[in-house]
Amino acid sequence: MSDALVLIETHGRVGVIRINRPKQLNALNGAVMRMLVDAALAFDADAAVGAIVITGDERAFAAGADIKEMAAASVVEMLQANRIELWDALRGIKKPLIAAVSGWALGGGCELAMACDMIVASETARFGQPEINIGIIPGAGGTQRLTRAVGKALAMEVILNGRFLDAAEAERFGLANRVVPVEQYMRTAIELAQQIAERAPLAVRLAKEAVNQAQESVLAEGIADERRLFYMLFSTEDQKEGMQAFLDKRPARWQGR
Ligand code: CAA
Repeated sequence: MSDALVLIETHGRVGVIRINRPKQLNALNGAVMRMLVDAALAFDADAAVGAIVITGDERAFAAGADIKEMAAASVVEMLQANRIELWDALRGIKKPLIAAVSGWALGGGCELAMACDMIVASETARFGQPEINIGIIPGAGGTQRLTRAVGKALAMEVILNGRFLDAAEAERFGLANRVVPVEQYMRTAIELAQQIAERAPLAVRLAKEAVNQAQESVLAEGIADERRLFYMLFSTEDQKEGMQAFLDKRPARWQGR
């Protein structure tokens, strides 16, 4: 296998980004995050790609930010390295992001999975925010996203007491979309991504924006935003085509316009 830190593949209209530091359980150092973000931005700009899968390997999705890289850092060095700011770029990705998680998804690894729009987990997946064990707290959105995903009580246990969630718990508590046997998690994630990638691109983009708005705003603002996006889609050729195809009883041909 290549020794590149991040591997890129495409499967039909699905772009796959694979973290490739198996010996360090795919710990996310600065170089990995830079390459991962650059790959996601490139797929986002590529009209041939409709959805993106982020994954690691069977043993680890990612065991967190690279502790060796941070161990001796001062506040000033952390700030100057813009270590976490890099992650903000992922929030700007307009195409659906699906995390295909097997094995460890800890700390920054769990935060990376939660920064995606959906999580497909293998039965071996273990999620957690064990930063408390090394004297810090989650720094890449974990306290916010985990609490929204699983609720306050469980998030407190995971973050304050380092409790891990197994795959079945992650599915039950709303963190993972589905759990499948380890031999199937990549295929399942790519199939889900491919299904979404075949849908009307502009509607998918605005649907993602609208759902994210639900996480980030109060209800009245979210409803107003959803309505604005809904009306906006009536200026697209895909809306005319989609509705006409329904009336004609034929599949729609999406143009992304
Ligand atoms: N950073 C750097 N290296 C890591 C790492 C990490 N987050 N996680 C694992 N590794 C390395 C280990 O140091 C080890 O390297 P060596 O072989 O050179 O010693 C190798 O990966 C294999 O790890 P283990 O021998 O520990 O494997 P294990 O099966 O016994 O344990 C584990 C697996 C429970 C995941 C354990 O490795 C572990 O606890 N890792 C750290 C998890 C963690 O604390 N993550 C949070 C990081 S902080 C963070 O992410 C901040 C943030 O919010 C952005």
